[in-house]
Amino acid sequence: MTHPAPPLWRQLQAAAAIVAGVRRGESTATTLPRVAQDLRAGAQALAFHALRHLGRAEALRRLLARRAPPPDADALLCTALALSWREEAAPYPPFTLVDQAVEAAKRSAETRPQQAFINACLRRFLRERDALVAATDADPVARWNHPRWWIARLRHDWPDAWEAILEANNAQPPLTLRVNTHRISRGPLQELLAVAHIASTPVGRYGLLLDRSRPVDAIPGFADGLWSVQDAGAQLAAGLVTAGLPPTARILDACAAPGGKTAHIGELLPKARLLALDVDPRRCERIHQNLQRLGVHAEVRAADAADTRGWWDGEPFDAILLDAPCTASGIVRRHPDVRWLRRESDVEQLAAEQKRLLTALWPLLKPGGHLVYCTCSVFRAEGADQMAAFLAHNSAAVLQPGPGHLMPGRGEVGGTLPDNQESDHDGFFYAVLQKSALDAPARQEP
Ligand SMILES: C[S@@+](CC[C@H](N)C(=O)[O-])C[C@H]1O[C@@H](n2cnc3c(N)ncnc32)[C@H](O)[C@@H]1O
Repeated sequence: MTHPAPPLWRQLQAAAAIVAGVRRGESTATTLPRVAQDLRAGAQALAFHALRHLGRAEALRRLLARRAPPPDADALLCTALALSWREEAAPYPPFTLVDQAVEAAKRSAETRPQQAFINACLRRFLRERDALVAATDADPVARWNHPRWWIARLRHDWPDAWEAILEANNAQPPLTLRVNTHRISRGPLQELLAVAHIASTPVGRYGLLLDRSRPVDAIPGFADGLWSVQDAGAQLAAGLVTAGLPPTARILDACAAPGGKTAHIGELLPKARLLALDVDPRRCERIHQNLQRLGVHAEVRAADAADTRGWWDGEPFDAILLDAPCTASGIVRRHPDVRWLRRESDVEQLAAEQKRLLTALWPLLKPGGHLVYCTCSVFRAEGADQMAAFLAHNSAAVLQPGPGHLMPGRGEVGGTLPDNQESDHDGFFYAVLQKSALDAPARQEP
């Protein structure tokens, strides 16, 4: 039996609650599970759309009312403005959105006192939309829907590409699968998908780009571990880590949860001695679940990777993957809340943490071995600048030709990309550092 879709005003209430949460500093990953199951998919779609247009909506609201109403009413008003300001991109006709937003205001005790105010603002918006929108065009936060400091940093880091990066950040990302080549090859998986009327295109070495997004459980083969959801840019990591390694190599994945790249390494080198660490024990559970589904074996431990005395047994690694904690500025198209949650000071703090991890892990690499450093960030402080500083202080580290910075979308890259030129990928930074074979051997005792 199919249930009727919940009314739009309920979905708007839930979406506005998610937007209000982001403004309080709560990620959508925290607030979405609190939304009633029947509303969740619709509320997520509306909230993600609203977050991609929140800069514009807030600028419009300031024109409509100099003083913001209380937070819940303001979140509802801004959500309605974000969804309806550009008619051709609106998920519903703007008149419908306005009617339903006023209904949403009426139906909640928190927003009912502002119902007339919300109604007046939104009706005026519908009457004067073109002029109001034009009046916000000169405001970069409205134009690009990112915080001012973020836009300034991108302009500084990428004088020729910053606009393309911001455009890509506001677009809908594609759904890309990574084929578990240990279980099935790409052609047969494509045939299996085609039987379920899912068209796919090969990307990179292991990926399939789907014709459109859909729920994971609507795609055959997930429970059987035939594939994982993984962006084409993220799919580069395991190939870089396993390149040139013997089958039983000892490999460290230092910041592994939820295990996407760990699993890929295991799929490519099933006999490798793979150790996956993550500082967050709950996220380590996610690694276990993913490895189990995909049939990959690895030792998983909850530990601060930089505190090597707490977990290292003294045996050096043939290869290390450091997929370091970062601002996630390269994946904002998938996580549209990230741009509003980050503070400018986070960039330096995270860069310092990346440096701490890099410095602590480098001595654990065998002479002749390689370390793959990556972040899902397009900020140079977390990528090229981090590498330049490390290389300046570590004469045994030799930078190999590699992807460098990947821009989100189909954007330019700052290095040599092995096999993903044509793919649509997230923003990343990759560097492969080889340890000179003449370097002093690593410490054998913990
Ligand atoms: C970018 S995510 C890793 C994504 C993962 N490699 C994948 O592909 O699925 C960074 C991870 O680093 C972990 N982390 C942060 N600081 C850490 C530390 N000092 N030691 C180990 N893990 C850490 C976080 O908990 C987070 O799960």
